Amino acid sequence: MAFRCTSRVGQNAPTPGPGRRFPMRLPEEIILLLLNEESGYLEQVAGWNLSCVLAGAVLADLDLESRIDTAQEMLSLDDASPVGDDLLDPVLAAIAADPEPRSVSYWVEKIAGTSDEILEHALMRLSRHGVLDYTNGGFWSLSRNAAKAGNGTESGESRSIVRRRIVETILGDDIPYPRDAIIIGLADACDAFRFLLQPEDYEASRERIELLGMLDRISRSVAAAVAATSVNRSIGVATKPIPNVSLWKMLRKDSLWQGNTSKLLADLYRDYGPVFAIKSPFSSKRAFVIAGNDANIWVNRNGRMHLRSKETMEGMENVLGASRSLPGMDGAEHFRMRKAFQMASSRSRLNERLGDMLQEIRLALDSWNVGDVLVAKDATRTLMSGQVSRLLFSMDFSDYVDDIHKYKNRMLITYAQKILPKFFMRTPRMKAIRRRIDRVYSMIRNSHTPAQRENQPRDLIDDLISLHDSDPQYFPDTDTRFMMIIPFVAAMYMGTAVGFGLYLMVSHPDIFQRVRREAEALFANGDPGPEDLKEEAIDTAHRLILETLRIYPSVPLQLRTVMNSCIVEGYELPIDSRVVIASTAVHYLEENYPEPEKFDIDRYLPGREEHKKHGAYGAFGFGTHTCLGPRVAEYQMTINLLMIAHYFELEVLPSSYPVKINPFPTCTPRKSLKLRIKSKRPIFPSDRAAGDRETGDREVALTS
Ligand code: HEM
Repeated sequence: MAFRCTSRVGQNAPTPGPGRRFPMRLPEEIILLLLNEESGYLEQVAGWNLSCVLAGAVLADLDLESRIDTAQEMLSLDDASPVGDDLLDPVLAAIAADPEPRSVSYWVEKIAGTSDEILEHALMRLSRHGVLDYTNGGFWSLSRNAAKAGNGTESGESRSIVRRRIVETILGDDIPYPRDAIIIGLADACDAFRFLLQPEDYEASRERIELLGMLDRISRSVAAAVAATSVNRSIGVATKPIPNVSLWKMLRKDSLWQGNTSKLLADLYRDYGPVFAIKSPFSSKRAFVIAGNDANIWVNRNGRMHLRSKETMEGMENVLGASRSLPGMDGAEHFRMRKAFQMASSRSRLNERLGDMLQEIRLALDSWNVGDVLVAKDATRTLMSGQVSRLLFSMDFSDYVDDIHKYKNRMLITYAQKILPKFFMRTPRMKAIRRRIDRVYSMIRNSHTPAQRENQPRDLIDDLISLHDSDPQYFPDTDTRFMMIIPFVAAMYMGTAVGFGLYLMVSHPDIFQRVRREAEALFANGDPGPEDLKEEAIDTAHRLILETLRIYPSVPLQLRTVMNSCIVEGYELPIDSRVVIASTAVHYLEENYPEPEKFDIDRYLPGREEHKKHGAYGAFGFGTHTCLGPRVAEYQMTINLLMIAHYFELEVLPSSYPVKINPFPTCTPRKSLKLRIKSKRPIFPSDRAAGDRETGDREVALTS
């Protein structure tokens, strides 16, 4: 056997990171070793084992820095002076502050309890130093710059350095450096080599992995502690019984009769705690609701390991002839599909088409006339759907918008919420709508041939066709129909929010005036460009949108199935059970938003920023399926509100109308929410001569 290095001299220092050579610590090296770029996250190793491994990695780093000694069963403190590293120093401080002698295993287990923070912190550091990129939804990948740099440069090798170095060490004959021996020991403790090696190499190397893992005293003691704590953990953790919600109690809640799902879930959270069971009158099975800030944080951090959306979506996928869909996928294939949708959901793509969008809004608003009475829900849905069809599909679907919405609502109620029996999808009316939707689908395909798209700005359909052409098996024709429905769902959510937003704006004249002044400043010298639509220029309207989505979130909850049993806040959710993520119950909690029922756009001002508290703002969901377009949605809705305020004065009819919510299938205003146009400013230059038109007496139900 060839010996390469047996000395620890010079080998204890942290591995230089890429680019600016930041000292990469063992937890960061473990993360890079485990990063699976296809799924955008770490390899799916057992959660508790990973927690122990990260804890062990911090302890090992502290040992290498001569702050503690882990050579014996009992851990001893050698030097309490901080290392100057924010990943290690809090742990060192905790050890120094504890007067009792404790074993290494004790500390592994104790620190493992905070491993989520260690993981998050290490990921953020890797991102700050340009090694990893973060994408919305909790996805991590090697940074674009690092990937572009390729082999032979520091940044390009960051991840492969760790993985290649460790794999080569295992497959070779040399004795590893101590740091690598620690990494091998730790990685083996969470059984990571099953993923990192080819199956035949894994089998052939088992003995050597165990041997190398035991070479270094730190990895030996930490690995033993990891094993001991894992065993203890797997013996069983006592969990609490999940309380059942009493139907009687629920029926007595005002929020139920108001149709305010978020408030109802907040009421139940206060009565029953963060996990409770509801039995729907429409189903024989109980569904488990998880609610509160910590439950939302849990979904963000751990949801991917335990929850699946397949069962919620598959009925709808089947009815549209699809084998799978973006909201129904999980894991690596889901991450890949999200990437395909990313560009079309980006603010930069919308900015490229800003002029088209402003024109589209004007065309729609031009049909609103003084004296008209608008059914808010229909008018704003048509407004937003028009923009979506023009910008994402490069077509005008105004004649079909109603059909698409009716069909989508019926699918949601029948298959996702399971409220209606399946034959409701096959009524003659639904069959006729379906035929019309198929016609839309053919229109989309026919309008996106290469010849038709020459010199046209790229849209979502172009992105989807490219994905299909590059990998027809991954994304077959059969799946495209479902994907095309998604933007209409998004348009409906935006329409709902703009409808509620209009109501709130009009019923708070001071806010209306502020939004109008903002709009006047923006449009004073013609249409604003992207550079004019800076945060501060649209601040009031934007905060109005945030507050609207807090009080009336279009999507109050998400549905999932438990695929791996899990413990949420001390309650065990059984495999195969249905889970309701009550993501927006937090919007009605006093501890997040003082006087939660009060409309107050100043909550979002610097100094208050109540929505930034962890897990406190759930309008766009949590976890891997979190909305792909929150920024673009907020931006687009804000611009719509600004333009409405710019051109119109409106009033709520009757002025004392208390808003009523329709909670099915998602939260929308009832048709009884009506707005009357009091005055209108000229929308197109040719109207200018007409000047501002005053209130008229004509009352026309534009849409009803
Ligand atoms: C008021 C506007 C919107 C709201 C309230 C909203 C809300 C949400 C929520 C709560 C989810 C998560 C669903 C789940 O976890 O099951 C979601 C998913 C999604 N949203 Fe939005 N959304 C809005 C607008 C948009 C817009 C404008 C786009 C694109 C341009 C968009 C694209 C998506 C996509 C593609 C998904 C599926 C992501 C996945 O399954 O991985 N949304 N949205």
